[in-house]
Amino acid sequence: MDVYQAITKRSTVYSFLDKQIKEEILVKLLDAARMSPAAGSIHEYEFIIVGNKAKKTEISKICLTPKIDSAPYMIVVICDPEKLKSIFGLDGEEVFCVENVSLAIENLLLAATNEGLGSAWIATVKQEPIKQLLKIPDKYIVRGVIPLGYPSEEPSKQTQLLPKLSEITHVESFNNE
Ligand SMILES: Cc1cc2nc3c(=O)[nH]c(=O)nc-3n(C[C@H](O)[C@H](O)[C@H](O)COP(=O)(O)O)c2cc1C
Repeated sequence: MDVYQAITKRSTVYSFLDKQIKEEILVKLLDAARMSPAAGSIHEYEFIIVGNKAKKTEISKICLTPKIDSAPYMIVVICDPEKLKSIFGLDGEEVFCVENVSLAIENLLLAATNEGLGSAWIATVKQEPIKQLLKIPDKYIVRGVIPLGYPSEEPSKQTQLLPKLSEITHVESFNNE
């Protein structure tokens, strides 16, 4: 699968087969994530791999998305905004902290698609309960939970929800078609 195929094929998956993911594939996905560009090459994000059933069930409740507990693994993505603030000021804390994580996650999602895996990015995660569950130090923000697994049904991309290219593209200047 080339990168364009992975981009067009990826879609959000919430329910998964009872089939394990090989450890080397998991490592490959995280490796793809860390290959993303990052402001000033400061890769301020960390991943927590969760495979324990009871923890996954708890996380799915914390995320208000109960169906993702069928995923063999969840990747919890965290970052330390203070560290980026100390390097880049307010932009680091408020902007790069989100942008860097977003690029890393997109790499992960596309690499997962390439491996035939389904994934989702769940951002509706309550900070305190997940930090307590996974013993995450207070300075971190949990940016998302990524359930990963083999999809229980063929994912279908909601292309009708995508913006038309003609509506979002300008040539040479704004409003110039
Ligand atoms: C930043 C971000 C946050 C998201 N948070 C959630 C979430 O909290 N819960 C959820 O069910 N889906 C979440 N999603 C998944 C989107 O709803 C999904 O990507 C969107 O419906 C488009 O579908 P597709 O991924 O199949 O193209 C999130 C996606 C992104 C990019």
